[in-house]
Amino acid sequence: MKRKPVVAGNWKMNLLAREVAAYAEALAAAGPATTVDIVLFPTPVYLDGAARAMPTWVSVGAQDVHAEEKGAYTGDVAAAQARDAGATWALAGHSERRQCHGESSAEVARKAERALAAGMTPVVCVGETIEQREQGETEAVLDDQLAPALAVLDTADAGAGAGAGAVLAYEPVWAIGTGLSASPEVAAAVHSHLRGALNAHRAGLGDAARILYGGSVGAENCRDLLSRPDIDGFLIGGASLDPASFLRIIRLSAGSGSGAAAP
Ligand code: 13P
Repeated sequence: MKRKPVVAGNWKMNLLAREVAAYAEALAAAGPATTVDIVLFPTPVYLDGAARAMPTWVSVGAQDVHAEEKGAYTGDVAAAQARDAGATWALAGHSERRQCHGESSAEVARKAERALAAGMTPVVCVGETIEQREQGETEAVLDDQLAPALAVLDTADAGAGAGAGAVLAYEPVWAIGTGLSASPEVAAAVHSHLRGALNAHRAGLGDAARILYGGSVGAENCRDLLSRPDIDGFLIGGASLDPASFLRIIRLSAGSGSGAAAP
């Protein structure tokens, strides 16, 4: 089964308003990409501006939403607020949130549920540390991270008409921002395992879900990664900060078919 690729950029805590505006102009000038889904995750203060400025073929997402619906959580953003500001996707459980903010896998699943309930497509992120990989714990760690989120991914898949279905991101912590991308073989093996875990939860869920790879993705390795049948796209950090670099990855991911953005 061929799933539509997703090319997503996670800007993390980078870019200023004028740079977001220039980025949107650069994408608009490059023309629509129709053979891949494009999503950008700006810093929350720029969600609204980015959602207004981006061409219609670019979706905007929240980097995080709170697990509670609303209330006394200074500095946090509720899913409904992110949706109100124009986000249609939301990351849940990026490793930087798990590490810097102590988010548990149960909390990550609740965040994904909030995002889905607010009308966004959650992207559940999982990934092992280098120590866990070296100890041979990768699959067990990923299974533990995934388990609480299986139900919400199943619900997201069931509502595929409204949202973008079930989306999972595999981001090995050791590959993030290090230049040490997982090899296509290593990434594909993990994606195959994750797809199997989704199918074990409900037959067909794994076949339908899009599983993105993240961790030092760039123009030089995106094609090889995407050629693997279980890799359905990317969650890109550093290489998404410059529109020219992001457009290059979009073009390479979209292949030479019609509708590919041509920067
Ligand atoms: P890099 O592409 O900078 O390694 O970051 C990956 C990432 O964390 C995306 O969410």
